[in-house]
Amino acid sequence: MNRQTWRGLALALMLGASVSAMASCAQAQAPAATPAARPWLDPKLDADTRADLAVKAMTQDEKLTIIFGFFGADMGTKYKRVADALPGSAGYVPGIERLGIPAQFQTDAGVGVATQGGEPKKRERTSLPSGMATTATWNPELAQAGGAMIGSEARDSGFNVMLAGGINLVREPRNGRNFEYGGEDPWLAGKMVGAQIKGIQSNAIVSTIKHYALNGQETGRFVLDAKIGEADARTSDLLAFQFAIEDSDPHSVMCSYNRVNGDYACENQFLLNTVLKQDWGYKNYVMSDWGAVHSGAKAINAGLDQESAGEAFDKQTFFRGPLKDALAKGEVSQARIDDMARRILRGLFASGVVERPVKITTIDYAAHAKVTRADAEEGVVLLKNDKGLLPLLASAKKIAVIGGHADVGVLSGGGSSQVYPIGGRAVTGEGPASWPGPMIYFPSSPLKALKARLPGADIRFNDGTDKAAAAKLAADSDVVLVFATQWNGESFDSPLTLENNQDALIDAVATANAKTVVVLETGGPVLMPWLSKVGGVVEAWYPGSEGGEAIARVLTGEVDASGRLPVTFPAALGQLPRPTLDGDPKKPDDLFAVDYSIEGAAVGYKWFDKEGHQPLFAFGHGLSYTTFAYDNLKAETKDGALTISFDVKNTGKRTGKAVPQVYVLPKSGGWEAPQRLAAFKKVELAPGATTKVSLTVDPRLLATWNAQAHGWSVAAGDYTVILGASSRDTAAKTDVAVAARTLPVGLMKP
Ligand code: BGC
Repeated sequence: MNRQTWRGLALALMLGASVSAMASCAQAQAPAATPAARPWLDPKLDADTRADLAVKAMTQDEKLTIIFGFFGADMGTKYKRVADALPGSAGYVPGIERLGIPAQFQTDAGVGVATQGGEPKKRERTSLPSGMATTATWNPELAQAGGAMIGSEARDSGFNVMLAGGINLVREPRNGRNFEYGGEDPWLAGKMVGAQIKGIQSNAIVSTIKHYALNGQETGRFVLDAKIGEADARTSDLLAFQFAIEDSDPHSVMCSYNRVNGDYACENQFLLNTVLKQDWGYKNYVMSDWGAVHSGAKAINAGLDQESAGEAFDKQTFFRGPLKDALAKGEVSQARIDDMARRILRGLFASGVVERPVKITTIDYAAHAKVTRADAEEGVVLLKNDKGLLPLLASAKKIAVIGGHADVGVLSGGGSSQVYPIGGRAVTGEGPASWPGPMIYFPSSPLKALKARLPGADIRFNDGTDKAAAAKLAADSDVVLVFATQWNGESFDSPLTLENNQDALIDAVATANAKTVVVLETGGPVLMPWLSKVGGVVEAWYPGSEGGEAIARVLTGEVDASGRLPVTFPAALGQLPRPTLDGDPKKPDDLFAVDYSIEGAAVGYKWFDKEGHQPLFAFGHGLSYTTFAYDNLKAETKDGALTISFDVKNTGKRTGKAVPQVYVLPKSGGWEAPQRLAAFKKVELAPGATTKVSLTVDPRLLATWNAQAHGWSVAAGDYTVILGASSRDTAAKTDVAVAARTLPVGLMKP
């Protein structure tokens, strides 16, 4: 099925005037003026001034040109991309040559330069591990380095807008796009995704944080109405966006497909005008998701600045003909059109891309492989490790590797974010052939990488299709590694149960040999009915281009296991706020609501804590190959700021990385859930070494939303500060008195 059908927007193709006529209209303007006559091109001026100057010089047609984008890929015979768009790309917005304004070349997404389906010529690029995996590193420096790397590939592939920085909180562990996002906690997600955007934008290109907002599941994503109260939204999903935006100032924000409290996100006054632009003072532009525009005047007056891929995906090309009518009727003001153009230009000027035009050039893939490998290996989470089964001992003689195509590659997530691997696909013929497929395994083989590291071992592979044969091999081995995969992707949600009888395979193998380690390649949490039978579990997520190497490095102990869960693994569906997923994938046009007021702001571990559910694995959990001790926990307030300090000591025998986590809870309650993650830090320590960590807590993490004051209020009182290795671990705790405080709604630096 092609992407168009998936979006249920087949009518859109029949509408709209000639794309190429529109694309070239800008070029048909008066000849270029001299540099002195184009003061907006002066990089010494600030982005606001430059945008103001440029808008003043623009004709109405030029303004209308930059607020409307085209899809950059062919869709069979139904849609042909604009000639100037880069083939197989997400989008294209014509430039204004007369004014020196470059065209916008848009590419997905958060793991690297993607190719949109239907194009024979794939763009083969480096892929980072999934967003979930990067977040599992709890290491913002890695997220930033990864962002810088994929941003440079975008630039060197001719793109100046990267549709990256996915930050929808995991309200629904079955959401098919969780792999693109930053987990379930606003602070962790904000820090990690913000760091990635900073990295991307360090290449003088635009990064687009998305999908704003509350796009929590794929089932019914074009129609579902996310119901949630203001305080809950501001304390959860919106707070994650706010933190990331404060840290990284993304030059663009993408509004999402779904509705929020009745209105579509791309025509939602509250989300766009009130929260983003007024409250947070966001100065750049809002672009729609592809097919997310449902109106002209309403969307524009609510704060949408640019219609993306309108001709290919929207029911009408709202920001073209219908907009002219709306202008004529006075439904949209000229001032607002100017504001839209100005915001887009501001984003471009602020990014630096006007001074540094993008150019297709060679990419250093060998250097980039190291960046993605470093990210992947720190994202691997060692969930269970009985009797020191891992790291694999150099003395292990017979090792069985079973299933998951571990002989040839590692899995990646599907949909618009799909990066096509350098070296081609490792597996073909599985999963859907077209969008949201194909299902792609990157050619980085865990088996080969293990063999290279354990030359003395006899490592044998069984593909797992025959359970009995796999169990026989397991019985005849010292250690067994079973690889289990679950393919997630855009446009569909996934059960938490592994498909294709993989649970039965793991069970049979573990019955044959208890020294079995399960290596998971999944987008997010899965259930583990075999957990008590296996000796170890490793969550490797979708580990990216160098995934096989990264997995082998962790399994063999070449590096420590240092990932920690950015998401709760439930023990059963009944523990979730919505045990049954809302909506019906077979009826994509039927309107329905998802009641997010059930959990409100108590997303993920907060819900589990509040309800007293015992998860399978808690948020923040992850083992190391060494051990750590925490000591000297101190909490104090100074000038209203809460500062926490403590010592971390490596008490084991090898170098390792700890992720001390600080959770705070008010003694008198009053929050959405008992406790919140307030701070964290990843530290590397040699055996016996101790380091002192000092962290300052963002005051909004101590506050609740105060609707009357239209800001945040910290209640005076005693708060308990817990230091631990996960949300369910208490290594030390202390109390601290905090004074009452009010905080502004807007952007702030703590
Ligand atoms: C996705 C966006 C993506 C866009 C362009 C949409 O289907 O939801 O995340 O950026 O397509 O490919």
